[in-house]
Amino acid sequence: HKKIAIAIDGPAGAGKSSISKVVAKELQYLYIDTGAMYRAVTWAVLHEHLEVSNQKAVEALLPSLDLTMEPTDTAFKVFVRGEDITDYIRQQKINENVSTIASYKGVRQYLVERQQAMASVGGVILDGRDIGSVVLPNAELKIYLTASVEARAMRRYLEVKGTTNEQSLEDIKISVMQRDKMDKTRQESPLIQVEDAILVDSSNMTFDETVDYILHLVREQI
Ligand code: C5P
Repeated sequence: HKKIAIAIDGPAGAGKSSISKVVAKELQYLYIDTGAMYRAVTWAVLHEHLEVSNQKAVEALLPSLDLTMEPTDTAFKVFVRGEDITDYIRQQKINENVSTIASYKGVRQYLVERQQAMASVGGVILDGRDIGSVVLPNAELKIYLTASVEARAMRRYLEVKGTTNEQSLEDIKISVMQRDKMDKTRQESPLIQVEDAILVDSSNMTFDETVDYILHLVREQI
């Protein structure tokens, strides 16, 4: 079998990372969660008490971050200066600020370079917002994974229910919509469905159906 590069883009809460993880495991591919990298930078900015709106200060922080990623069997771990911050990057505070951090050109250049280097081994699946358009424009398979905002908010709600991150369905919906709007309208590599991407709308599909469909699309290519 040929080892290809798979790009999965789409709005917040579409299930990109949980689906990519399973697809990667099935294919024995390397999975790279690029959103986790933007979240890690955001975590560091908040941890250092920098102004999120201060682009210069945020970009100046990058060289000292020592951002490293460790894809494991079941998770994608993220480290800043040797500290495992994987458990902190899904918090609401990060959700609220990550799209601002991700709109900065210097941040994107820094992370895109790393993503491309990590992906150069082949047999990879990357998920994010600009994978098909910027990070891997030559990916053999590009998927735009989406679902209605109601379906996406409901999935996220069920995920965080009973955890310390618990939030009302309405709040999650608002937060998801705000993030989508920022990601789609920013100047630097906004979220778009590129022309050669296959649209997968999972609003009425189960998790397993979505995984199976994507695996089917991959097998057509390899
Ligand atoms: O995918 P996830 O929800 O973890 O991404 C968090 C945020 O990181 C997105 O809302 C977006 O602002 C940013 N992001 C990005 N480009 C990527 C991946 C994520 O701008 N490739």
